[in-house]
Amino acid sequence: MADLRIEKFGMENPFVIASSPATQGVAAVVKSSQAMPGAVVMRNFGHGAGGGSYIYPSLDDMAAGRPVIQSHAEGTQIKDSFDSLESYCEGLHKARKKMPDSVRLWASIGHFLDTEAGGLDWENEWHRQAQEMERAGADAVELHFNTPGVAVVRNRVYDFYRMIYNTTKNIKSAVKIPVMVKLPVEACDPLRAMEAAVFGGADAIGPTARWRGFAFELDWERTLPRPGSGYGTSGALPVICFTVAEARTNGIETPMYAGGGIYNWEAAAKMIMAGSEMVQLGSIACCAGPDTVKGLIRELNAWMDRKGYRTVSELKGTALALFSMPEEKSVKRTKALGRAYMLETPDPEKCTGCGRCVEACWYEGIELKEHIAVKTKKCIGCGYCFNACPSGALALDAEQIIGNATEK
Ligand SMILES: Cc1cc2nc3c(=O)[nH]c(=O)nc-3n(C[C@H](O)[C@H](O)[C@H](O)COP(=O)(O)O)c2cc1C
Repeated sequence: MADLRIEKFGMENPFVIASSPATQGVAAVVKSSQAMPGAVVMRNFGHGAGGGSYIYPSLDDMAAGRPVIQSHAEGTQIKDSFDSLESYCEGLHKARKKMPDSVRLWASIGHFLDTEAGGLDWENEWHRQAQEMERAGADAVELHFNTPGVAVVRNRVYDFYRMIYNTTKNIKSAVKIPVMVKLPVEACDPLRAMEAAVFGGADAIGPTARWRGFAFELDWERTLPRPGSGYGTSGALPVICFTVAEARTNGIETPMYAGGGIYNWEAAAKMIMAGSEMVQLGSIACCAGPDTVKGLIRELNAWMDRKGYRTVSELKGTALALFSMPEEKSVKRTKALGRAYMLETPDPEKCTGCGRCVEACWYEGIELKEHIAVKTKKCIGCGYCFNACPSGALALDAEQIIGNATEK
């Protein structure tokens, strides 16, 4: 078995069940901890009713990595489990006692409503909250900046990075336990936001996304009760992977727990390969529960074994070579593929004369002669016709060609 431990934070594996209905209240935290993730973040208090969670089109699509969106607040609204810092801390204490020792418990601080409510001394309040949470047994505190990504930027865009920096510094001075800073990638410059947290002393940064989306059926009257959606979703995954890779190639070395669209072990592996040693699970934990999360952890481990990765650090950032590929190498790959597209001719045995290649070509590089496709001298090797061909008459082994181009 691969060793999935994240030693710096005493975690058995890189999975963090993120602040959500799956972590709201003591019972949910304890239930989520039964998946044996590395950590569970107890959902922050003070934002009134929280939503349920619904994924669209289905859990099967989610598991298969097909596009899905997440709709917040489907069904009955979940009431805030705690109405004060005291009851939240009591909850932390209870959950800590009931959870397996090996699962870390992170407390979540702050909500954008605090920062928006005029006159509230929210900075000192957050300082106090962090201290009380540490006393109550939290293994780490998380600063909830992902929603302010939407809320604060809307109101005071120029303050956002300074606010991240100042608040991180403030909370770092309040506690000895690690301070994790959860950040948005939308509605701000994610690299600047991450740098602000790093300069403020964050022990880990957690880039994630909260888009707003609109899910509806063409027959709109049958649409979900609340078609507005939000949070990660499958569309977030490549964006967050890019954000992580960009940070790593810009010299940010602070541990990361990125999240958004991690619905199966493959997505988790991708996020780690992009450079985030830990990963957040939100919607999947909400919608599918501890058994699914447990399976996801097991499957990542099995794949790492098959591939010969012994630790998470061995896997972390392995895709960065692709992200920052030297220009010379990428040009060589592009040219090798272009040459192959240009030289390869349609197989007359397989061509059905449908003409889709001609339709897709912008250079008169291919034409039909007696109902069979033939290349012309004008072909530039762009490859569109290969993508359009439905019968396999235009086909080549792109992977092998790219591979051969980069062999030493
Ligand atoms: C229904 C739901 C409610 C959420 N509520 C919170 C919240 O109260 N505080 C918070 O920091 N993040 C919240 N999140 C965001 C998650 O913690 C996590 O960052 C996000 O879900 C990751 O993307 P994913 O859902 O695609 O996995 C919520 C997510 C969902 C699905």
